[in-house]
Amino acid sequence: MAIAQQVLLRDAMRRLNLTRDLFAARIGVKRRALDTWLLPEGSQESRAMPEVVGRFVTEIVENDALLQKYAQTAQTGPLRDRIAIDNKHQLLSVDQFSRESVEELFQVADQMQPIARRQKVSRVLEGAVLGNLFFEASTRTRVSFGAAFCRLGGSVCDTTGFTFSSMAKGESIYDTSRVMSGYVDAMVIRHPEQGSVAEFAAATNIPVVNGGDGAGEHPSQALLDLYTILTEFSRLGKLLDGAHVVMAGDLKYGRTVHSLIKLLALYRGLKFTLVSPPGLEMPAHLLEKAGCNGHVIEQTHDLQKGLQGADMVYATRVQKERFAGETLEGYDEAFQVGRGIIDRCCAPDVIVMHPLPRDSREGAHDLSTDLNHDARLAIFRQADNGIPVRMAIFAVLLGVEGLVQHSMRDVTWVPPSHIGPDDSVFHGMY
Ligand code: NCD
Repeated sequence: MAIAQQVLLRDAMRRLNLTRDLFAARIGVKRRALDTWLLPEGSQESRAMPEVVGRFVTEIVENDALLQKYAQTAQTGPLRDRIAIDNKHQLLSVDQFSRESVEELFQVADQMQPIARRQKVSRVLEGAVLGNLFFEASTRTRVSFGAAFCRLGGSVCDTTGFTFSSMAKGESIYDTSRVMSGYVDAMVIRHPEQGSVAEFAAATNIPVVNGGDGAGEHPSQALLDLYTILTEFSRLGKLLDGAHVVMAGDLKYGRTVHSLIKLLALYRGLKFTLVSPPGLEMPAHLLEKAGCNGHVIEQTHDLQKGLQGADMVYATRVQKERFAGETLEGYDEAFQVGRGIIDRCCAPDVIVMHPLPRDSREGAHDLSTDLNHDARLAIFRQADNGIPVRMAIFAVLLGVEGLVQHSMRDVTWVPPSHIGPDDSVFHGMY
């Protein structure tokens, strides 16, 4: 299947980190010509890009990736050693990343796209077994980690909840971790206590990935969030440096925003507007971490005020299950992110994100469903990105990322061209 020209061009702009103007100059064409090639196929103004330009763009991107790879490997060795923690190939916190290493991980995620989009299969992890240990509610994190491991040819063993694990019999984290390490080659762990995944990780030498530790961190979610932001901004011809990012909702207990603000802070000159109900503000130590690289941080309890001119809005669920005596006073419709307020306050090309699940119950005031058919809503594209990003995490931690490209074979079945009924070209499926 040929790659749609729009997808090829957008991917190229993102990978090269160039705006439309700079990209047009880089490939030696007029900005106007580039714009017509980027229009959706079938629209009146859209034009087919000459084949020679397509080949040139592919060549530039490949050369750039090779140069970056050689430069990085020559200076510093494999990515997994550079992001290691306590000399182990584990992923516990986004603090393990620099801007360079996070973008290197995303190059691996890009390589995984043909597999995630069900065009190719790979068996680089054949024989490897993943232990998915989830001691807290989960749908997408558990299943997408499992699916990512399977799509690289591995197998998955799951355990969910305390009730059906030996922890209900009083087993310690140390014992559980050491015993599981004898059975599996990597573990993903989600646990309600902050710091508990690090305790699991200390009791083993196999790769451990933090799938969420209480109100602490959720590094793989933040990585897929950042990957989504970069991909979406590239589609829109925008750069993340200098953007206005709004985080709204429960910023005190939401672990996804805790990890994401630290990752975003690796970029330059962002404006962060943090909107929360009173008492659920972003913890002070994270504000301090994000206050570097020329970022501006504003805090407010007023959503309408906070959303003015936003390039990206990241809404979150109120984490009532983690409340320690707090009450949710005054958390009413005015806190709900929905079509009306987005139309009124944000930049027209804003993207709206949410880690999901969104609380759709009456009176919850979580992200409204009235944006469901709106291209500005990126939540399903965001969730889809969980697969290539988690595949990249496993490939890097297990040291097989260099084998993936040559291991790919065509799929034998025919997947639907768009996986969701409302998906459009914006989903990057082709
Ligand atoms: C989040 C989590 O578990 O922290 N969900 C997820 O992993 N995508 C967000 C939440 O539960 O609100």
